[in-house]
Amino acid sequence: MGKLPKIPLSRVHQSELIDRRILEVVKTGNYILGPECKAFEKELAAYFGVPYCVLSSSWTAAVHLLHIAQDLEPGDEILVPSLTAFPSIEPMIHAGARPVFCDIDDTYTIDPEDARKRITKRTVGILPVHLYGRPADIDAIGKLAADHGLWVIEDCAQSHGAKWKGKRAGSYGQHAALSFYPSKNLTVYGDGGAILTYDEGIAKRISMLRNHGRSAKYLHEKVGFNQRFNEIQAAVGREQLKVLDDLNAARRHVAQWYRRELAGVKALTLPPDDTIGLTQTVYHMFVIRLATRDIREGLAKALSDQGIETGVHYPVPNHLQPAIAEIYGKLPELPKTEDYTQRILSLPMFPALTEQEVQAVANAIKDYLSR
Ligand SMILES: Cc1ncc(COP(=O)(O)O)c(C=O)c1O
Repeated sequence: MGKLPKIPLSRVHQSELIDRRILEVVKTGNYILGPECKAFEKELAAYFGVPYCVLSSSWTAAVHLLHIAQDLEPGDEILVPSLTAFPSIEPMIHAGARPVFCDIDDTYTIDPEDARKRITKRTVGILPVHLYGRPADIDAIGKLAADHGLWVIEDCAQSHGAKWKGKRAGSYGQHAALSFYPSKNLTVYGDGGAILTYDEGIAKRISMLRNHGRSAKYLHEKVGFNQRFNEIQAAVGREQLKVLDDLNAARRHVAQWYRRELAGVKALTLPPDDTIGLTQTVYHMFVIRLATRDIREGLAKALSDQGIETGVHYPVPNHLQPAIAEIYGKLPELPKTEDYTQRILSLPMFPALTEQEVQAVANAIKDYLSR
């Protein structure tokens, strides 16, 4: 019997049309912050239903510029879930603010009640993360923000196209941030990111800061950065945006196949299903939870032995990262976050995954768990 083809954790959408567009841009001789970037910004703003979008070289770069443009003060506190990619908190630390880590609820997103308990006089904002493609509880977060006069930046790195009450996640906070890192639902062929905002002044400041603080070619109003975006990636992103809804629909099909194949398997917990009328998840990842860490590790190894790639997002929550302990010392425990990070496992999830591949993954899981 021949070896079965490998099933990766994620795979970037590619097309001949995108190949042609890349070549087209190369031939224009125009490579940085040109018409493709302008058009991509406009199209992203329209897609998310917000007035302004500013591209930058990554989510991390874009949010750093945003925090500078917000004039964060040393000691400002920002509520953020600990269960997220480490970059969610890097820009705020570089900008002098302090992340205040919050626990999650069963949707793997920030628990608004836990966040409420952590508000102090120094709290200025909330950075909810729509983790794995499922919107956090936007109503509860909006209420918390309104009750305490806080701003909200939605971390949409994993949730391009997800909806909350029929509107795009990313259109609820004052600002939102996107990542186009390959593996995301909307990717380019490299790094990239953007800020979505309702604030024209902030959009202008970020645009200036990303390009050496320039207001004209050789006139610098601020000391800025080189965190620009480029034409080739903008052309790729524009083509990816055209098919984003289709790609997300395909991800939702994959999720349904997993749910069907894994229904009733007692030893695992499936991801929370959509709440009708409230959430539309875009399954950046399909994350199951096992009974113990040992079972998670054993299952990951068994799948890997069969050519099935899995991941853990994330094995070490941010409040327990060495870099954070070095700055803030030992931080309070976050029981659910610490428990779930021991037991979660991300299964292969991308739009081109076939029903047969999902069945193969599910069978391998059932086989291991029944041993
Ligand atoms: C939730 C989340 N926030 C932020 C980031 C950072 O994005 P970037 O790599 O574009 O800086 C990522 C990407 O890993 C992410 O998944």
